[in-house]
Amino acid sequence: MKKLLLALGAALLATVPAAAQSDYPTRPITVIVPFAAGGPTDTVTRIVGEHMSRTLGQQLVVENVVGAGGTTASTRAMRATPDGYTIITGHMGTHAASVGLYPKLAYDPRKDFEPIGLIAGTPILILAKKDFPAKDLKEFIAYVKANGSKLNEAHAGVGSVSFTTCLLLNHLLGVKPTLIPFTGTGPSMNALVAGQVDYMCDQIVNAVPQVQAGTIKAYAVATPQRNPALPDVPTTVEAGLPDYQTSAWNALFAPKGTPKPILDKLSAALDKALSDETVRKRLLDLGSDIPEGKARGQEALAAHVKAEIDKWTPIIKAAGIEAK
Ligand code: MLT
Repeated sequence: MKKLLLALGAALLATVPAAAQSDYPTRPITVIVPFAAGGPTDTVTRIVGEHMSRTLGQQLVVENVVGAGGTTASTRAMRATPDGYTIITGHMGTHAASVGLYPKLAYDPRKDFEPIGLIAGTPILILAKKDFPAKDLKEFIAYVKANGSKLNEAHAGVGSVSFTTCLLLNHLLGVKPTLIPFTGTGPSMNALVAGQVDYMCDQIVNAVPQVQAGTIKAYAVATPQRNPALPDVPTTVEAGLPDYQTSAWNALFAPKGTPKPILDKLSAALDKALSDETVRKRLLDLGSDIPEGKARGQEALAAHVKAEIDKWTPIIKAAGIEAK
């Protein structure tokens, strides 16, 4: 009898998750954005999140959780209940560069998360305040080399894309500016527009409106080709810094152990969003690279995270930077 009751109990336990999986989602889903509202990660999350909400029939509710270059939020997401109701938008900083930047990082992006899918690739721009005394990248390089330690560089915390990509730039130029941390490149963009900081490296999706409005300067885009959203901004190759080639990406992750049927629903909703003309136009107008075909989905993201960790870890070690 006891064995029968145990078997029945186990069977009941097993059926509940299956029932929950097939009905998922039955309530709003929290999407943690590890940076302040208004920045690139927040922007791309809200663009696809609106469409995914319609597909899934439940609201994806963005929750901005800031701190430690996005690693605070990522640690919280890792520890969330793996039921599909808490997911996170991670990126090249939180789910790749942070492995090299934080020797005691509380999570391993390769093991502690379930990949859902890439949202968008986000090329990096070298940006400066409007009255920065350089008319092109060559003059910017000369000025930064001559005044490095007197200049203020904005970033979104150790572990962020802006921190990591300007770490690479500063290493190439051999300069050590004063680093000014913000809770995201939304707030740091405000400081750049206000002339309170001198320069920063940021994802193009955060800079297109400001560059088009002329409230900041964009010296170059760090990709082999110019970006259609900012066709007048030269590439770093054209502008004289060919070694500075870097791009970022934002992607959706769930905590380890989230059931596969739930992950599949989330991946399918993301895929549908990325194929929607309105969503695509909004992402492309901000300079994003939209993943197509095999670049979408869980396996592609898992492979991309591993490749990016393998890429950035030696770069960060060579720069001799470690978060305390
Ligand atoms: C943001 O959304 O603020 C950025 O992704 C922060 C960063 O990584 O630079």
